[in-house]
Amino acid sequence: MSEGDISERGLHTDLLSRRLLVVTGKGGTGKSTISAALALAAARRGKRVLVCEVSARERVSELFGKPPSGPEIRELAKNVYSVHVRPPEAMREYGIMTLRSETLYNLVFERKVVRYFLRAAPSLAEIVMLGKIAWHAEKEFDRGVHKWDLVVLDAPATGHALALLTVPRVFLSLVSDGPLAADMTWIQTLLQDPTRTQVLVASLPEEMPVNEAIELRAALCKEKLPLGPLVLNAVFQPRFTEAERTAVARGGPMLSAAADAADGHEARAQMSVQYEKVLRDAIAAQSAPGQAAQGPLLCVPQLFERQFGLNAIEKVAHALEGAL
Ligand SMILES: Nc1ncnc2c1ncn2[C@@H]1O[C@H](COP(=O)(O)OP(=O)(O)O)[C@@H](O)[C@H]1O
Ligand SMILES: [Mg+2]
Repeated sequence: MSEGDISERGLHTDLLSRRLLVVTGKGGTGKSTISAALALAAARRGKRVLVCEVSARERVSELFGKPPSGPEIRELAKNVYSVHVRPPEAMREYGIMTLRSETLYNLVFERKVVRYFLRAAPSLAEIVMLGKIAWHAEKEFDRGVHKWDLVVLDAPATGHALALLTVPRVFLSLVSDGPLAADMTWIQTLLQDPTRTQVLVASLPEEMPVNEAIELRAALCKEKLPLGPLVLNAVFQPRFTEAERTAVARGGPMLSAAADAADGHEARAQMSVQYEKVLRDAIAAQSAPGQAAQGPLLCVPQLFERQFGLNAIEKVAHALEGAL
C-alpha cells in the first residue's frame, strides 16, 4: 500500500495497528498517561504491547500500580509490558541484539567502528536508545512472528524528543556506510513510514502547551515524521448550567466558595473550547491539500481522581477509543 492510498480516516482508525507509536509534547501534558492508555487500549484488542520509557523516572509502571521495570522487560497487566530504556544498558543490548555479541566484540575493537562511534559521540545515547526501541518494534521475533504487536514510546519532551527522532538523519549526514549507517537507514525508514509509525503530540488547553504543540508538529512534519493524532488532554467539560450557577451564587456566604469554584470550572471549560479551536485550526492549516494526513484532534477529559492510577488510565483509554 502506498502512502497515497491511505485516507486520513484509514490512517487513524488503524492507529493501534502501527508498530510504533511515539508520544511526545511539553512536559506535564500527559505523555506517560497517554502512553499507558494507548497500551491498555491495544492490549484490550488482544495486542501484545511493550511500553518503552526513556525519562529519568519511570511513570508508566507506577500508573499500573507496579514497581519500576528497570532495564528488564516486566509485565504490567495482561498483554502490557514495559521497560526503562537507559543509555548504558541500551548500548550493551543494542550491540548484542543487532550485531550479536561475538561480532560486536570484534567490531568494537576495530578502529573503523570506534571512529563511527566517536563521530556520532554527541548523539551516542540517542543512537543506542532509539536502536533498542526500533529493534523491539521491528526486528524482535518470537517463533517467526513479531514478539510485540505494538511498541509505545513514552518519549521525552519536545526538544529532546526531536533530538531522539532525528538522530538517524543526523548520523547519516555524517556517515554513509558501515553497520551503524545500515541500522540508522532502516530505523529512519521505520520512523518515516506512516503505516508503521505515528507520532502523537500531547497538549493541554493552555497557552504554552498549545503553542509548543503547534511548533513541535511543524518541526516533526519538516523531518518527514508521520504525525498521528494531536491529543488535547485534561479538557474541562462544562458542568454547571447557568441556572445552577445563579442558584449557588444566591446561596449567600455559606456557598460563596462553591460559587467561586463553579465559576472557575466554567472559565476553564471555556478556555478548553477556545484552545480546542486553536488546535483544530492549526491542524487544518498544517495539512495542505495533497499532503499526507496530519491526524485528528483527540480530546481527553480532565479527570478528578484522588488516586491517579489504573482507574484513571482506563478512563483515558476509553476517551481515546471513543475519539478514534
Ligand atoms: N486527563 C487528566 N486529568 C487529570 N490529571 C491528569 C490527566 N492526565 C494527566 N494528568 C496528571 O498530570 C500530571 C502529568 O501527567 P504525565 O502523564 O506524567 O505527563 P508527562 O508524562 O507529559 O510529564 C500527572 O500528575 C497526571 O496524573
Ligand atoms: Mg512522563
